[in-house]
Amino acid sequence: MVESGAYGELKLFCGTANPALGEEISAYLHISQGRVNITRFADGEIYVRFEENARGVDAFVLQSTCHPVNEHLVELLIMVDALRRASAGRITAVTPYYGYARKDKKDAPREPITGRLVADLLMTAGADRVLAVDLHAGQIEGFFNIPVDHLRAMPLFADYVREKDLPNAVVVAADDGAVKRSKELADRLDLPLAIIFQRRVGKDVKEPVEIVGEVEGKTPIMIEDIIDTAGTLSGAVDVLMRRGARPEVYICATHAVLAGPATERLARQEIREVIVTNTIPVPSATHLPKIIVLSAAPLLAEAIRRIHLNQSVSMLFT
Ligand code: R5P
Repeated sequence: MVESGAYGELKLFCGTANPALGEEISAYLHISQGRVNITRFADGEIYVRFEENARGVDAFVLQSTCHPVNEHLVELLIMVDALRRASAGRITAVTPYYGYARKDKKDAPREPITGRLVADLLMTAGADRVLAVDLHAGQIEGFFNIPVDHLRAMPLFADYVREKDLPNAVVVAADDGAVKRSKELADRLDLPLAIIFQRRVGKDVKEPVEIVGEVEGKTPIMIEDIIDTAGTLSGAVDVLMRRGARPEVYICATHAVLAGPATERLARQEIREVIVTNTIPVPSATHLPKIIVLSAAPLLAEAIRRIHLNQSVSMLFT
């Protein structure tokens, strides 16, 4: 039970993307989930009706915009719209996985910036705040004109890997986009860093071109925000093996999108463990024994509690 804050009683409403995470968060907070009916019209349009009072409540709407992305995104928008029209005191969109974030800038003429578009949609629907985990790029926070609390799974991964006490380990950035988070992991674990540079040769295809740093005879640890098709990581493993790294690679990734050939690529024997969080439910079809799921529920629940009580959440970032 959480006491009422300045915006009224705390209520957690869950979309259909990740019910298990919703259960864990409500258990942590010792609250029951708010009742909401989410169905479809015959033509597929989404219908939402909150089945309890929402007037003057501090509403948190949990929805990862994961596969099927468009369905989950529109469902979230409709839930926020319905809450606004029901006179909720404050509405926080909790998007543990914020989809469409990889287009956060134009890399070529006539491209969209979907990370910004989704921010505009959420604000237009009526969200007053956003709570997310490991946004693909920090600048997405700036796409919003409302407060964004940006949690990071880094401490979960660092604690897990530290416990393993891996011999002669090196943190490897799988591409230049992973350098910042890889350096932070290396610093936290007091390990050396190596960097692989990859060249994009297609929408989902990259080709390793160079590696900087010593990996021979070492146990590589890689950290990513997203594993989508696992093409980036698989290409990195190829380079590492060619350079004589130990065939025992550890991979950490916050969001297990695991689309297309991901499972097959991650099954390769040189990959020892794939450590992910439950911001996205890991489908049972992709339940390789080597996939370790760390729960982001305590982190999200504590952030929700603190936001509700107007307390600092910055201690959760460390
Ligand atoms: C790229 O910018 C991301 O950080 C990931 O490296 C990428 O989205 C992973 O995609 P895939 O698993 O398909 O290589």
